[in-house]
Amino acid sequence: MAAPKYQAPRGTFDVLPKAARLRGRIERTAAAIFARAGYEPIATPSFEDTELFERGVGHSTDIVRKEMFTFEDKGGRSLTLRPEGTAPICRAYVEHGMRALAQPVKLSYLGPFFRHERPQAGRYRQFHQLGAEAIGTDSPLADAELIGLLAELLAELGVPGVELRLGSLGSLDTRRAYLEELKAHLRSHEAELSKEVRERIDANPLRAFDSDDEGTRAVMATAPKLVERLDGEDAEHFEAVRGLLDAAGVAYSIDPTLVRGLDYYTRTIFSFVCDRLGAQSEIGGGGRYDGLVEQLGGKATPAVGWAAGIERIMLALEDDEPAPGRDVFIAVAGEGHERRARALVLAGELRKAGLSAEVDLGGRGLKGQFKHADRIGARQVLILEEDGAQLHNMTSGEQRSVEAGNLIAEITRGEA
Ligand code: HAM
Repeated sequence: MAAPKYQAPRGTFDVLPKAARLRGRIERTAAAIFARAGYEPIATPSFEDTELFERGVGHSTDIVRKEMFTFEDKGGRSLTLRPEGTAPICRAYVEHGMRALAQPVKLSYLGPFFRHERPQAGRYRQFHQLGAEAIGTDSPLADAELIGLLAELLAELGVPGVELRLGSLGSLDTRRAYLEELKAHLRSHEAELSKEVRERIDANPLRAFDSDDEGTRAVMATAPKLVERLDGEDAEHFEAVRGLLDAAGVAYSIDPTLVRGLDYYTRTIFSFVCDRLGAQSEIGGGGRYDGLVEQLGGKATPAVGWAAGIERIMLALEDDEPAPGRDVFIAVAGEGHERRARALVLAGELRKAGLSAEVDLGGRGLKGQFKHADRIGARQVLILEEDGAQLHNMTSGEQRSVEAGNLIAEITRGEA
């Protein structure tokens, strides 16, 4: 078969009803968890000033260097389709004076994000994240609460094979000192490093921990680790987060090599990985970003949060939500516009009464209507005849006359 002339662009995909049902379940589960914990929904635009991401996410990150969908508007302003949600939410926090609200401001979100990455399973150019942020507290309780919420979400959805990795980057000062130490280590082993890592020793030495290159991996095995360099308060904070997770029964492992692809993180970072996902194994992750609000022009405001990839959750679940089925299909026997009109009115009444009801929209004969009712999974078929109505049970095949004045009760009885 020839390929269709128009297809969804590379790295994007259509969410067909079967997948949309699963997505609906994920979204509803997350919304309920957020609501119970007091994380109120927020929505920001799909695009922002490019500078917001350059400053927020960081010039040296892959996201800003290579992956942004950036364009000029007709006024020559540089805009970018949002690659992530945390910088925009901090922008909104500052712009709308949310500092005046009760702190921390706890927010949740869900929507499309865009990164020009090489598409593969679990990695798309338009994908969807759901996430939560607590802005305005440096308490380890917030870190633990948020990590607990993502653990709860994945558990409630039944995502198999999930593991939580935890690390800490310390404060910006600790990190700066550590980065110098790390760069010195990398420079003293330059010849053994991959070309990509070597070229970015200065720009982004932490990414060397992520490298697949064998030589680089050997160098990194002996590299100093940031968690070993945390100063007093950072170490205490990290210990407190670990203690709270232990108390809540959230299992994790400490990963001293954990790095994340965004520059704003300070102190706690975490990553939920799933063994069903192949190369793109991270299902969700996040951390603290105590400097970001200030970096975007606000007052110094500590914050923590995470985002999870909805498509990755869907891949891991490999699940089919059963098709919803229909309570009743209203079939019309014989010809006649009038009876078809009556069927449509009746469907409206049944829907108002809370039943799912459909009518034939294709001008089929009675046999065709039954076939269609079967295909869409109708549990009962109401047949409107010239002088009465019959109710047909699609499972048992049983059929009985019903009174026009009493249809809703009859159909509900047939449902039971
Ligand atoms: P991130 O790790 O870049 O963090 O993305 C979060 C999640 O989005 C990933 O764990 C993954 O599941 C999903 N994801 C990322 N890129 C793609 C892609 N190309 N295709 C499919 N899924 C993808 C952030 O974005 C931070 N804003 C998280 C955060 C919130 N940190 C603090 N607060």
